Amino acid sequence: MVLATLLLQALLLVPVWGHYYVAINGNDSGPGSATAPFRTLERAQKAVRSSTNGMKSDLYIYVGPGTYYLNEPLKFTSEDSGQNGHRVVWQAQDMTKGASISGGVPITKWKASSAGKGIYEAQAPAFTTRHFYANQAHAQRARSQVQRSWVNQTATGLQVVNDAAKYILTMPGLEHAEFHAHNSFTSRYNPITGASADTIVMAQPAWNNNLIGYDTFNKPDVDHGLYVENALSLLTDPNEWYLDPESHIIYYMPPSGQDPNNMYLVLAKLETLLLVGGTYDQPVHDLTFRGFNYMHTTWNHMSTGYVDQQTGGYIGLNKAYTDFEAARPFWWQVPGSIQVSAAQNILFQNGSIVALMGGFGIGNDPNAHTTGVGLGASDVEISGMLLHQTGANAITVGGIQAKAHHPSDPRLLNQNTRILENIFTDLAYTIDSAVPIFASYAKNTYIVHNDVVNVPYSGICYGYGWGSNDAGGSPQYQQRGLYNYQPVYSTPTTLQGGRISGNLIYNVGTLHSDDGGIYTLSASPNTTLTDNWVKSRQGFGYYLDEGSSFYYINNSVLDVSSTWLARNEQPTYTTGNNTIANCASSFAPSDSHNQYNDTIVNSAQWISYRSMSPTQKSIVYLAGIPPDQRSRRPYSIDQGPF
Ligand SMILES: *[C@@H]1O[C@H](CO)[C@@H](O)[C@H](O)[C@H]1NC(C)=O
Ligand SMILES: *[C@@H]1O[C@H](CO)[C@@H](O)[C@H](O)[C@H]1NC(C)=O
Ligand SMILES: *[C@@H]1O[C@H](CO)[C@@H](O)[C@H](O)[C@H]1NC(C)=O
Ligand SMILES: *[C@@H]1O[C@H](CO)[C@@H](O)[C@H](O)[C@H]1NC(C)=O
Ligand SMILES: *[C@@H]1O[C@H](CO)[C@@H](O)[C@H](O)[C@H]1NC(C)=O
Ligand SMILES: *[C@@H]1O[C@H](CO)[C@@H](O)[C@H](O)[C@H]1NC(C)=O
Ligand SMILES: *[C@@H]1O[C@H](CO)[C@@H](O)[C@H](O)[C@H]1NC(C)=O
Repeated sequence: MVLATLLLQALLLVPVWGHYYVAINGNDSGPGSATAPFRTLERAQKAVRSSTNGMKSDLYIYVGPGTYYLNEPLKFTSEDSGQNGHRVVWQAQDMTKGASISGGVPITKWKASSAGKGIYEAQAPAFTTRHFYANQAHAQRARSQVQRSWVNQTATGLQVVNDAAKYILTMPGLEHAEFHAHNSFTSRYNPITGASADTIVMAQPAWNNNLIGYDTFNKPDVDHGLYVENALSLLTDPNEWYLDPESHIIYYMPPSGQDPNNMYLVLAKLETLLLVGGTYDQPVHDLTFRGFNYMHTTWNHMSTGYVDQQTGGYIGLNKAYTDFEAARPFWWQVPGSIQVSAAQNILFQNGSIVALMGGFGIGNDPNAHTTGVGLGASDVEISGMLLHQTGANAITVGGIQAKAHHPSDPRLLNQNTRILENIFTDLAYTIDSAVPIFASYAKNTYIVHNDVVNVPYSGICYGYGWGSNDAGGSPQYQQRGLYNYQPVYSTPTTLQGGRISGNLIYNVGTLHSDDGGIYTLSASPNTTLTDNWVKSRQGFGYYLDEGSSFYYINNSVLDVSSTWLARNEQPTYTTGNNTIANCASSFAPSDSHNQYNDTIVNSAQWISYRSMSPTQKSIVYLAGIPPDQRSRRPYSIDQGPF
């Protein structure tokens, strides 16, 4: 016994092959053993790189509890990969405590400010940012609502036509302020450059691009509020903040009664935390990240404006477009804080993403990857995580440009992403039209047994392109003139083989409209949506929007207060050819007619959960994360058994 203990201790003093340790109070000059751990993840990465030749088993890096503040993103290339079929596993040493990776800087030494009652101030380091987090939640940039009737759109900006908005013309710091329009399915930002007579002058080309297309800045399909943001004089409400870009003094009004010196207040410095990206010749592969909490990022590009289109696709500001359709093939994507491209077999298990801007970007277009190499992600798994307090989509799978839907080289294909048993809740705070899961052009995307709870727009969005890139094109987009700017493709896109099943989707559309529990676009052969339970007072249940075809929907319960099956079907659209079977809803009969070669069978209306069939009750009970894991929910939901 004693001997065994001594032997074990001796073993721990020197690094055992295949095991490295990192701890907050470690030392990078040491060996990285259990008793003399490294201090930084970067140091451990160097050690791993020199150990993977001839790997005979998995290699583990155990990261001790605490928060690791990064000075720059951690970059994983093919050199960091597992070899010979073995994996390199980065793992929290104590899975119950986890280990946190932060891109921010804690702000301390707050004192009462003369800027106003209840406002505190502190000196921040000199960097540019758009994000400040209070106790692991998004703090609100100082803002004030502007009624649409107070301002009138002109080619250069917004003309003030009501005295209530006059103060904006002379507001100190006007040239750092922005307008934010919360529209039907878009969330648009436009910076202000100054004032000219009675007009608030808007930055170009953002303003030009914000006025073309659909659900535009000043002609929303539905108005969910217009705000002027980011000036010190607008800081009047608890949880609002403002950072002076010259003095780097940060101002914050804590919730009443709270001393900011007792809060965890962090200013985001980095835009990305993990760059997992190889090249198409040498992809990064066989990595696991288990039990980490990713937090505190920003995205400064938005300061030139954000011309939202849908679910994180936006018109770039490299030019002013006159024809909206000319822009459509070239929309950009919001980058993730954790980016994975040209990569194979990368697993993210347990832990969380919390209080950050972008979420996971899996095989997005090159414009959304810091490495410059987009797409090419295969066999990436995100499982057992909590994803909340993001600024944008929590997970974006696939790209939206031509190389994503019609790759010239098979190595660019995104395939086999698995999103399993995660909790998505309370997210999309910056771009509030963003969604928990957006899966675009990719093959065999699995979205299975997730909780998707309390979200501002749709729950799960699958597919993109409105049918315009599908084989044969779309008569609607012929009419709109899109094919003056891109080909009519004769072959199918990469979108196929999706599986969205066993998900719990609860309370969607809290801030937007024209949304659904599960929302689809374009043709996706061999794709099944089954055993999902949608319960929401806002939004449709299943929403098959433009071009959605060849979906197989089965065995679902839709508890909604409007249409359970919305189908955007018109003669010029290519929506149709869908099969919908065994769905139970509160609105069954009116949505159950066959049209456009859809087949709808066995849809049933139900009155109460108690009166459901055993199969329907079991769909409800099993939806979401598995019953034995439900204690990790930050909310409670009644799923029976009824
Ligand atoms: C780290 O280890 C080196 C070499 O043993 C030592 O010189 C140094 O003081 C240590 N640093 C700290 C912070 O303990
Ligand atoms: C707003 O502009 C429109 C057209 O430019 C004009 O007809 C209207 O009178 C303006 N509204 C106000 C209140 O000035
Ligand atoms: C990690 O997540 C998986 C998938 O949900 C789950 O089965 C497992 O229990 C989790 N592990 C820990 C340590 O929480
Ligand atoms: C359909 O998808 C399933 C699962 O994703 C796959 O196993 C099967 O091979 C696919 N079938 C066709 C015809 O592509
Ligand atoms: C559809 O759901 C029914 C009812 O649960 C089930 O019997 C059937 O196998 C499912 N069909 C397919 C193709 O999955
Ligand atoms: C359904 O699919 C068939 C065969 O591919 C096609 O000819 C037809 O136009 C499609 N119908 C709709 C409404 O998309
Ligand atoms: C109707 O749908 C079936 C099944 O998707 C398909 O095989 C067929 O071609 C479609 N027919 C027409 C006329 O669109």
